[in-house]
Amino acid sequence: MKPLTPFGAELVGFDPAQVASVAGAASLLKALTDHAVLVARELELSGAELIAIGRALGELEILPEPDKRNPDHPEIFDLTNVRSDGQIVDFDEPQAVFLRGTERWHTDSSFREIPCLSTMLYAVEVPQTKGETQFADMRAAWDALDVEAQARLESLKVVHSYEFSRGNNPGELEPWTDEERAKYPPATHPLVRTHADGRRSLYLGGHASHIEARPIDEGRELLAAIVDEATVAERVYEHRWAAGDLVMWDNRSTLHRLRPYDIANQRRVMRRVTVAGTERVT
Ligand code: OGA
Ligand code: MN
Repeated sequence: MKPLTPFGAELVGFDPAQVASVAGAASLLKALTDHAVLVARELELSGAELIAIGRALGELEILPEPDKRNPDHPEIFDLTNVRSDGQIVDFDEPQAVFLRGTERWHTDSSFREIPCLSTMLYAVEVPQTKGETQFADMRAAWDALDVEAQARLESLKVVHSYEFSRGNNPGELEPWTDEERAKYPPATHPLVRTHADGRRSLYLGGHASHIEARPIDEGRELLAAIVDEATVAERVYEHRWAAGDLVMWDNRSTLHRLRPYDIANQRRVMRRVTVAGTERVT
């Protein structure tokens, strides 16, 4: 394992078959928990292989807005500016609006009562330049706060909502139906998480709507200020993609975002599986 800067690790010589055994899965989970971002390179993964790597760590989530691109594998979601007809999307169509939404710092599926553990993203096609993914370490962000700031934040609870973050996406999307709203109600989580190893981290990002029992605007301002401070460059690993890269990250302890690229001309096809969590956030 080769450390990345300022955090994360590269799994040199990663063999997807290794994770099939109980011991292999346990060591992947330990590496993920310790390093928070894991990078493997030069892979050639089928959909079934990507799913198998995800399944080594748990059940897989199905996203709220299903991707019809992989009909045999509903667990796979392609984040891509290429439509199923092979053409690049128009700037304002829902697929592009959704993608540009991932340019905000966020942690995946925090709108769920039991949010996900990990996201695994496999690069199929990458732009010639730009389109990096950045990761910020929310354990380091917590550790960097002084004791008074930690005490102010420790007891706060944050309301996370998919309807809120979807509405914040940069463009027009169909309003949500009552059925969708009922399926994905907001979830409330502590702002400060405590992990099994005793470390603590900040838990917020794009789906975080406001702070419970505080005026909405005041909560939003505070959340935005915390994200700004938590994501300063010294806590950010930036991944520059090559086709064949697999990046697996721990959504419990990091935020991530897509950096802009020439979405109108450069193809970017990223294949994702999301490993569900098993317990409520504490
Ligand atoms: C994701 C995500 C960012 C990217 O897969 O959850 O936010 O760089 N991706 O594609
Ligand atoms: Mn994401």
